[in-house]
Amino acid sequence: MASTLEAFMSWLRIPVLASSGIAAVLSGVLYFKQNEIIYPRNFPPDARTNVPRPSAFGMSDYEDLMIPTPDGESLSAFYLRANKQLARNVTILMFHGNAGNIGYRIPIAKILVEDFGCNVFMLQYRGYGLSSGTPNEKGLMIDAQTGLDYIRQRPELRGTRIVIYGQSIGGAVTIGLAARNFNRKDIAGIILENTFTSMRKLIPSAFPPARYLATLCHQIWPSEDSLPQITDVPILFLSGLKDEIIPASHMAQLYKICRSEPKVWKEFPNGSHNDTVMEKAYFESIEEFISEHVAR
Ligand SMILES: *[C@@H]1O[C@H](CO)[C@@H](O)[C@H](O)[C@H]1NC(C)=O
Ligand SMILES: *[C@@H]1O[C@H](CO)[C@@H](O)[C@H](O)[C@H]1NC(C)=O
Ligand SMILES: *[C@@H]1O[C@H](CO)[C@@H](O)[C@H](O)[C@H]1NC(C)=O
Repeated sequence: MASTLEAFMSWLRIPVLASSGIAAVLSGVLYFKQNEIIYPRNFPPDARTNVPRPSAFGMSDYEDLMIPTPDGESLSAFYLRANKQLARNVTILMFHGNAGNIGYRIPIAKILVEDFGCNVFMLQYRGYGLSSGTPNEKGLMIDAQTGLDYIRQRPELRGTRIVIYGQSIGGAVTIGLAARNFNRKDIAGIILENTFTSMRKLIPSAFPPARYLATLCHQIWPSEDSLPQITDVPILFLSGLKDEIIPASHMAQLYKICRSEPKVWKEFPNGSHNDTVMEKAYFESIEEFISEHVAR
């Protein structure tokens, strides 16, 4: 989301200085162009064409998939099979953060697959990487549901314990998906890393000059409304306290309003927005959560 911030700031520098007339015109631009700002899928510049494959990371037991959505898009995805020696009947559905594509997150998946014995299913939202279409909130939620339904329908995965794991905006996708599906009782865990309470509440803190434009934001991502609807699913909160994009207070607030039990809080004093995953104890926290609360 660093590029989001830069794009946002360049949009806003002008209205802050300009007359209200120009500001109104620019507000209009912001209203119609915000999806380009909120979903920086073309960053880095080759992110739409260059998607690293698991084979480039020494993994071979996987499938490279294109999955159709009910509304006609085609989503690129990787299904990585658990290390057979450690296999523990858990399937992790991963939702990535902004920028880049799923290929960039394979090193994370590799640890889950090879060291923790979990299956991983990672898909790329519409408009990202090799998936078709353009991103927006409604579309990303269709994509998320498509991924969950794929796991539910695939015979070798049916009956495994499903964990949904989302980083940054992927956390908002995770919360929305879990809120719509937890009643089926097949979601065995949720992992949230550095995500926000709602897009509107993120704007004033992440982009202070845009404070007065926050109401124009039509991408809602209402995690603070959806999360409290979820009950009886173990939830792990991973919060980098030095997050420079999404203030850590968002994660603290989500933890506070979460009604699902058990809920587990892990904070990383040196973790910033995209390197919390590198903090010591990040993966230990995930392993402990899965062992204690998911794969009992
Ligand atoms: C976070 O990621 C962005 C985009 O990938 C990058 O430009 C930035 O340097 C990263 N920040 C840190 C602290 O790693
Ligand atoms: C995996 O979990 C499902 C549902 O909890 C169960 O039916 C199945 O027997 C388990 N398989 C293994 C290999 O433990
Ligand atoms: C955070 O960084 C400081 C300075 O590099 C280091 O001394 C400290 O041990 C780190 N804390 C953790 C929890 O990693």
